[in-house]
Amino acid sequence: MSVNKEIRRVTTHVLQKMKHDGERISMLTAYDFSMAKIFDDAGMDILLVGDSASNVMAGHETTLPITLDQMIYHAASVVRAIKRSFVVVDLPFGSYQGNSKEALNSTIRIMKETGAHGIKIEGGEEIIESVKRIISAGVPVMGHLGLTPQSIYKFGTYAVRATEDAEAQKLLKDAQLLQEAGCFAIVLEKIPALLAKQVAETLEIPVIGIGAGKYVDGQVLVMHDMLGINKEFKPRFLRRYLNLYDDIYNATQQYINDIKDRDFPNDSEQY
Ligand code: KIV
Repeated sequence: MSVNKEIRRVTTHVLQKMKHDGERISMLTAYDFSMAKIFDDAGMDILLVGDSASNVMAGHETTLPITLDQMIYHAASVVRAIKRSFVVVDLPFGSYQGNSKEALNSTIRIMKETGAHGIKIEGGEEIIESVKRIISAGVPVMGHLGLTPQSIYKFGTYAVRATEDAEAQKLLKDAQLLQEAGCFAIVLEKIPALLAKQVAETLEIPVIGIGAGKYVDGQVLVMHDMLGINKEFKPRFLRRYLNLYDDIYNATQQYINDIKDRDFPNDSEQY
């Protein structure tokens, strides 16, 4: 099955119908206008302005340093490019943990200043009041369970989560709570495929996986990983569709050589 051309604009209702019809949901991160335009033209269902921008755009080791203002800058650039995709923006670390009012205020800034369609928030039971408050303000919320990178210092590693029964049970309970609170979808990151399958089969809302196996309702990757811009990051769950690092490196060397050799510009490339 390829891109569903009948869908002119992806909404939460469209995503719900995709789950109902068994049509897999495609999702990819985007942080800037030009890439978002290509992804939207290609038919991506959801574009996530992820706080992974902290790593791949700003070069930080974790997602913790990125600010709400920086997320808004990236999200506004992405939204300017899209016609079809549903745009979700991560609430960055420090913009919602204080209380549900802080979470709502950060969400309102994102919605007003970017034109995005919804937000994503990491966590389960501990953020459920915030989720309810944001949804009661009319904003679609996507949950995020499993490996939640904003808690990396609590976990200590980026290893697979919920391999032990206690954590798996908590994840199942949290997923149920997020659905009951009104989330339109949930991301599951780096958990065993059979646990993700159980969540996807139990919940009525779409479950999107990253390193969560093939039984969920959709897949998301970080664009730099999917396009092979990062050479070092090679988790088992990643499929690279290009090796852009090598292509860009080679093109850049060619450009440098052409300048040094006085080959560029040539007669037809000048006025
Ligand atoms: O920030 C991000 O890119 C994410 C994805 C890994 C789901 O949250």
